[in-house]
Amino acid sequence: MNRIIDASDDKKDNEEYSLRPTEFKNYIGQEKIKKNLSVFIEAAKKRNEVLDHVLLYGPPGLGKTTLAYIIANQMDTSIKVTSAPNIEKAGDLAAILTNLSEGDILFIDEIHRLNRAIEEILYPAMEDFKLDIIIGSGPAAQTMQIDLSRFTLIGATTRAGMVSHPLRDRFGMHFRMKFYSVKELQQIINLASVKLNKKIEENSSEEIAKRSRKTPRIALRLLKRVRDFSDIKDEQSISFETCRYGLKELGIDEHGFDDMDIKLLKLLLSSAKPIGLSTISAMLNEDEDTIEDVVEPFLISSGYIERTPKGRTSTEKTRELFKEL
Ligand SMILES: Nc1ncnc2c1ncn2[C@@H]1O[C@H](COP(=O)(O)OP(=O)(O)OP(=O)(O)O)[C@@H](O)[C@H]1O
Ligand SMILES: [Mg+2]
Repeated sequence: MNRIIDASDDKKDNEEYSLRPTEFKNYIGQEKIKKNLSVFIEAAKKRNEVLDHVLLYGPPGLGKTTLAYIIANQMDTSIKVTSAPNIEKAGDLAAILTNLSEGDILFIDEIHRLNRAIEEILYPAMEDFKLDIIIGSGPAAQTMQIDLSRFTLIGATTRAGMVSHPLRDRFGMHFRMKFYSVKELQQIINLASVKLNKKIEENSSEEIAKRSRKTPRIALRLLKRVRDFSDIKDEQSISFETCRYGLKELGIDEHGFDDMDIKLLKLLLSSAKPIGLSTISAMLNEDEDTIEDVVEPFLISSGYIERTPKGRTSTEKTRELFKEL
């Protein structure tokens, strides 16, 4: 299903990339991460060392990739970007690693999806900047070790629990991305509207922020769609009325819920017992990964769903809410 509030990366959306902040000062929120990273970056630069490897976790659309680019920018280095599913063979990774220059950043997205054989190549590369390659096969096979340039690996994942322990241990820094407050999202929307060259009224940006599932990617997407409604009406500035109208047309209610959320919450409300992920997936006709990575995190963090060992349940907050609806 194609959801307007799907937080997953839309590789076709070029404008998203142009809205990406390139410096810490335009990267809103995540204060603790920014503060720590700034110190580590300054220190590494002062000692003329490469930055230690960084692992970023958090739900889609919270700014992991953006942060990796900012780190590269602050370190004055270049960044090579890839994603674990693209690294199929040991040779793929070897080629990437041997092509890195001193101080480069290698960004591997969805790092929890690396297969174990490939992870093993990464260990000596991360620890000692060495690559073990096996030449030939069978009894005549020989191992050769080659030196790599010193680099920084930045790994990103939506699934902290699925990164293997040995891999996780080799990252010197671990950062968990937080969901954004309405105020922070409003700031992000206001900055983006300047870049898009379209004015927006304060109550409009606040309204979009409230309905964006605490996620910048969704906030920006809603802003762009609401801008369309506003442009058609020849508005100078996105008015509150147009904003509310646009959001309604897009099928997003006051809480930022869409049909999928409502279906999930109603399903949980209808059952006295917790419901397992596979049952939810079958009943909603949506795959388990999407439910776990995209739909649930916001609902859990907002207190609408609880995850128990026996399955998911609705909460008092959900029951109260649906009494009103
Ligand atoms: N802190 C922030 N300040 C301003 N803009 C942000 C911030 N975080 C994210 N954004 C914007 O939101 C968009 C999505 O962010 P990004 O692509 O970095 O998310 P992600 O965590 O890498 O998602 P995924 O898990 O899908 O790869 C970016 O285009 C960026 O413009
Ligand atoms: Mg990303």
